[in-house]
Amino acid sequence: MAKRRKPGKITGSGPVDVGSNPTGAITKSVVVYTSVHHGNTKRIAEAIAEALGAKLVKADEAEPSSILKFDLIGFGSGIYMFNYHRSVFDLIEKLPKVKKKAFVFSTSGSGKIQGNLKERLEEKGFEVIGEFHCKGWDTVGPLKLIGGINKGKPDERDLERAREFARSLKRKV
Ligand SMILES: Cc1cc2nc3c(=O)[nH]c(=O)nc-3n(C[C@H](O)[C@H](O)[C@H](O)COP(=O)(O)O)c2cc1C
Repeated sequence: MAKRRKPGKITGSGPVDVGSNPTGAITKSVVVYTSVHHGNTKRIAEAIAEALGAKLVKADEAEPSSILKFDLIGFGSGIYMFNYHRSVFDLIEKLPKVKKKAFVFSTSGSGKIQGNLKERLEEKGFEVIGEFHCKGWDTVGPLKLIGGINKGKPDERDLERAREFARSLKRKV
């Protein structure tokens, strides 16, 4: 049963500023990601979120209205058939036109820029201020037979690059 409040008593502290960085800057950030193959992108998302002091949320659990409370929004996933995961695009479709800063990140077999997430965000009004891509362990299809490619990736060097990328974003906002 819900607790009864005393009449007139103000409870709660309002929205929690979970994204504020420790320097006291006002930027609130959130990192939205999907990682379905080996958790490769999850590890990158965690490194970026930690370095940014950002909230971390899965794309298929993110509420459009709650992510819009943040000043800087990161979107990322693994690359599956040459593009980002459908759940990331589905979330973006639910957003209204905005004027906000964003960044994109991915892990993939090739580690290269792939897909059209950046373009889709720009069509929605986002200013994409950075992108990060790296290789991730890939055992799709016949690659499984040889133990996959990029075993051990992302590795500690990739995670450090991701943290440095996050620090560079802080300097841009
Ligand atoms: C179904 C499937 C399709 C994939 N397609 C591509 C692709 O088109 N290009 C690529 O470079 N890597 C591709 N990969 C490899 C993944 O992008 C890579 O393993 C990534 O790090 C997975 O991230 P995750 O562990 O966060 O899901 C594919 C993997 C899967 C499972």
